[in-house]
Amino acid sequence: MKFNTKVIHGGQQHDPSTGAVMPPIYQTSTYAQTSPGNHKGYEYSRTANPTRTALENALASIENGAFGLAFGSGLAAIDAVIKLLSPGDEVISTNDLYGGTYRLFTKIFENYGIKFHFVGMDNSDNIEKYINANTKMIWVETPTNPMLNIIDIEALSKISKKHQLLLVVDNTFATPYLQLPLNLGADIVMHSATKYLGGHSDVVVGALIVKEKALADKLYFIQNATGAICGPMDSFLVLRGIKTLHLRMQRHCENGKAVAEYLVNHPKVGDVYWPGFKSHPNHEIAKKQMSDFGGMLSFTIKGNSYESAIKVLENLKIFTLAESLGGVESLCGHPASMTHASIPKKEREKTGVVDSLIRLSVGVESESDLINDLKNALEII
Ligand SMILES: Cc1ncc(COP(=O)(O)O)c(C=O)c1O
Repeated sequence: MKFNTKVIHGGQQHDPSTGAVMPPIYQTSTYAQTSPGNHKGYEYSRTANPTRTALENALASIENGAFGLAFGSGLAAIDAVIKLLSPGDEVISTNDLYGGTYRLFTKIFENYGIKFHFVGMDNSDNIEKYINANTKMIWVETPTNPMLNIIDIEALSKISKKHQLLLVVDNTFATPYLQLPLNLGADIVMHSATKYLGGHSDVVVGALIVKEKALADKLYFIQNATGAICGPMDSFLVLRGIKTLHLRMQRHCENGKAVAEYLVNHPKVGDVYWPGFKSHPNHEIAKKQMSDFGGMLSFTIKGNSYESAIKVLENLKIFTLAESLGGVESLCGHPASMTHASIPKKEREKTGVVDSLIRLSVGVESESDLINDLKNALEII
């Protein structure tokens, strides 16, 4: 099956008991057994639930994996991945990453003896000097959040294979519509399915997808043993979202391009970070590993005034000022005070998260309305 067919049919079957085309929301915690251990594949919904299974199969299919796992949030999925490690182990992570991931790594897992190195990965030569006998994992977000750096997954997979490390890619920004990390050599793909996969800002869900059974078994064990699963209603919503992922992503990409090209020519705008520009430092890698450039972009205000950025955000009418991204509606955010507030100012500024940086999640509305909205808000400063 091609991608546009997989999002609708991949890993799916009509409900075996009724023929329902969409899997019912199996709102049940437990399943009847005819004698102890004799059941129809389901015992208890922490371990497995048919609606979650349908979502997990869809996730595996669209990411070209063999096994999918759905969690109660993206962070719960990340938490399960880090629980593959033991005290003393080390992780090399992108330095420009979602603030909540940084917080989980530094405020929770460092207390359990896991060491994290935050490293700029746009040049993969940078990484090998951080590898030692304790290194077990490379954690990559690409495109990065919020600076839209692109990291060469294939180059990193060569390094991770050479040193027998697990390569994990947070594919939230790109989605499998734009890039397939498992095809490029990653071991685990992670998603905040809250974003583009769900696509409608109505659910918080996380996902992992892997190819290898041994690794999947370890993760299923952690999922069941620690219990941060997603419920049947949320599974249903993400499954429904996935069915239009290709249509939405196509429009997100078109609108993202139009907005980026508008902003880059605006006299009050400083830098525009969007991987589709030829001048973007990682444009060639983006072209190689992504099929388009997505609907996420960030920009600064000339002069880098915090107050001007806040004024623009307060005056946008169609772009809603809100946390999150990837829904049908356009959102705007101020990383320094919102998504990345948990990263110390000195750290975040090193990666470009300055006070006037504005992040846009460009939705699927009419392009001209989005551009007029930005034009009006920028006129005020
Ligand atoms: C790139 C990225 N990874 C992970 C997460 C965490 O996901 P969740 O909010 O679903 O826990 C987010 C949330 O914003 C994100 O943007």
